[in-house]
Amino acid sequence: MTLRAVVKGVGHYLPERIVPNAEFEKTLDTTDEWIKSRSGIERRHFAAEGETTSMLATKAAQAALTNAGMTADDVDAIVLATSTADLTFPSAATMVQANLGMTKGFAFDIQAVCAGFVFALSNANALILSGQAKRVLVIGAETFSRIMDWTDRGTCVLFGDGAGALILEAEEGAGDSGDRGILSTDLNSDGTHRDLLYVDGGVSTGTSGYLRMQGNQVFRHAVGKLAATATTAMERANVTTDDIDWIVPHQANIRIIQGTAKKMGVLMENVIVTVQDHGNTSAASIPLAMSVGAQSGKIKKGDLLVTEAIGGGLAWGAVVLRW
Ligand code: UT7
Repeated sequence: MTLRAVVKGVGHYLPERIVPNAEFEKTLDTTDEWIKSRSGIERRHFAAEGETTSMLATKAAQAALTNAGMTADDVDAIVLATSTADLTFPSAATMVQANLGMTKGFAFDIQAVCAGFVFALSNANALILSGQAKRVLVIGAETFSRIMDWTDRGTCVLFGDGAGALILEAEEGAGDSGDRGILSTDLNSDGTHRDLLYVDGGVSTGTSGYLRMQGNQVFRHAVGKLAATATTAMERANVTTDDIDWIVPHQANIRIIQGTAKKMGVLMENVIVTVQDHGNTSAASIPLAMSVGAQSGKIKKGDLLVTEAIGGGLAWGAVVLRW
């Protein structure tokens, strides 16, 4: 028998305020048509004043716990992927722990920017496989609206706020690719590309800073690296694209999503796409897409998923899991 980290619940939360592309036409030299055709984004949610990443994360966590039929007391650990934690420290994860009324276990943040949820899933899987936790709440939550330069049309029209969460639980499997749960992971980073996507603030500047991106340069790396990491993860799981029911990609740009699916030989009808409604929510985009995909009835128990992401670092990776 082989221990597996199996999804027992999923949920998400999006801030109330929805901002359509047309809003940016009032203040920037841009158009709804440019944003839609270059990125696939039509609208995004922005957090209200005072609404923080840990608040969004808490609401997504509560939705996932309800979906799993569990309470916070049933969870041993919280792993929260974010690059927009409320404060420099403590972690947003410990704030969520307190908000949920969870007095035992442990909680920590993971910072791998847009690849954060893939890194968080891989770490949560390791906690379960090593016996350090039986049930892990894995969250991706962001308020990227707080780090936008509203005068930079090349970035501020692309990002949004939101949160998604999964509950993983240890379960015995047969040890083959028919098992439910995480079947394989693949993580990568290359710090020599730090200038392509970064925030120009932090402890060293005494400011929280603004996101800076050479979008077309990141784009150049994206499709090849995403297809490669997904292929590596599939080989490790001993599955092929024919076995895949859904690609659940990071939602940065519809052209990257389409290019990666094409390179992998997967039809777009087998890809979960939410970028039009959420924009790029960085580490929150994959659990948001999983939650929307499950709620809409597309992703069903037993389906085989590949999830992949790339972002600042550069950091990128993929996870193969059977829902
Ligand atoms: O999630 C983390 C990882 N991030 C990503 O994966 C993002 C990857 N990159 C992208 O999604 C795309 O590169 C963008 C959507 C950011 C940009 O699309 P692009 O097709 O690569 O455009 P570009 O950056 O090469 O810019 C083309 C033109 C430029 O004008 P010139 O130099 O050709 O005259 C830009 O100044 O589009 C201009 N432009 C805009 N025009 C209208 C840039 N932003 C805008 C805008 N509205 N908002």
